[in-house]
Amino acid sequence: MTDPSALMAAVPMPLVLIGGDARVVMANPLAEELFGSAAVGRHYITALRQPALLDCIETALKQVKTAQARFPLRGALRETIFLANAAPLAGGGVLLSLDDVGHVHEAGQMRRDFVANVSHELRTPLTALLGFIETLRGPARDDAAARERFLGIMATEAGRMSRLIRDLLSLSRVESEERMRPQGRSDVAALVTSATMTLGPVAAEAGVTLHVSGAQDALIVPGDADQLLQIFANLIENAVKYGRTDVFIDIARVERDPVLRAPAVRIEVRDNGIGIDPLHVPRLTERFYRVDSHRSREMGGTGLGLAIVKHIINRHRGRLRIESTPGQGSRFIVVLPRGPVADDSQG
Ligand SMILES: Nc1ncnc2c1ncn2[C@@H]1O[C@H](COP(=O)(O)OP(=O)(O)O)[C@@H](O)[C@H]1O
Ligand SMILES: [Mg+2]
Repeated sequence: MTDPSALMAAVPMPLVLIGGDARVVMANPLAEELFGSAAVGRHYITALRQPALLDCIETALKQVKTAQARFPLRGALRETIFLANAAPLAGGGVLLSLDDVGHVHEAGQMRRDFVANVSHELRTPLTALLGFIETLRGPARDDAAARERFLGIMATEAGRMSRLIRDLLSLSRVESEERMRPQGRSDVAALVTSATMTLGPVAAEAGVTLHVSGAQDALIVPGDADQLLQIFANLIENAVKYGRTDVFIDIARVERDPVLRAPAVRIEVRDNGIGIDPLHVPRLTERFYRVDSHRSREMGGTGLGLAIVKHIINRHRGRLRIESTPGQGSRFIVVLPRGPVADDSQG
């Protein structure tokens, strides 16, 4: 029969065996990492010292029934949350096991943050709309000039809400499809040209000139044309919004991308605008993350564009690189594999 300490060491969670005399009999290496190696032989109260944990061990010892508790613990690297289970043993004593449930809490927290963000983003324009409706019904009822002006603002705010809903639906779709391989084949050159034409008027109004190079010949990649178009439209739109005078869009065939280790197409969108502090770069693709929320909202942004871009690129097994020099400009580089990607790189 294997000795119990070898058995406990083989279980991939912290385990502590407490005897009928309330002293720690044994702790496996993962438990020693948490409570120190001096725990063995000591009373569990002095060895473990987590109030919630002590309560549940006491219940298990005295009432001879399984007890559970949830408690936070700060480890060397991060704080996490454990679910403790104290199970009474047939011959007396208790086996305490600890399950790290930090990731479950993180996911829950992320969902709560997301709901809070969405609510906030929707409430701002909604509050404005309700306010103007009130004014139009009351004080401004017979003021034709004010009515015109207020209706203009209301249209802007309603447009903001509509864009937010559009981007949320789009994000939710690409997130749910992220693990499904895209169907079809698309011509990147044609899609970039089309995005550039669509955004031409927006760029002209902002005083920005769009320069496209490398789009003469078709460049076919396996991919969903609607989604790929969203990538280019979002990046070019950002370059126009946060750029200054010129936006350069270069497309090139790559024989073998060093990171993807496959033939690829490289699309670069470059501007000479405000740039991005390196501090922010790694977080730009998070939902609702903006360097300057005020400016982003003023320009009609939802803060979801790059999150959508990132998910679409992941789905197509490509990669996104962001390089920027504050005050000089930014470049967003998308690399998409040209051939079907091997299954072992999925997921
Ligand atoms: N070309 C760019 N130059 C400078 N900052 C940029 C650029 N593109 C994106 N950003 C920053 O990244 C943030 C997130 O972009 P995005 O997700 O598209 O949201 P939005 O455009 O709605 O603000 C923007 O708010 C902006 O701060
Ligand atoms: Mg954007």
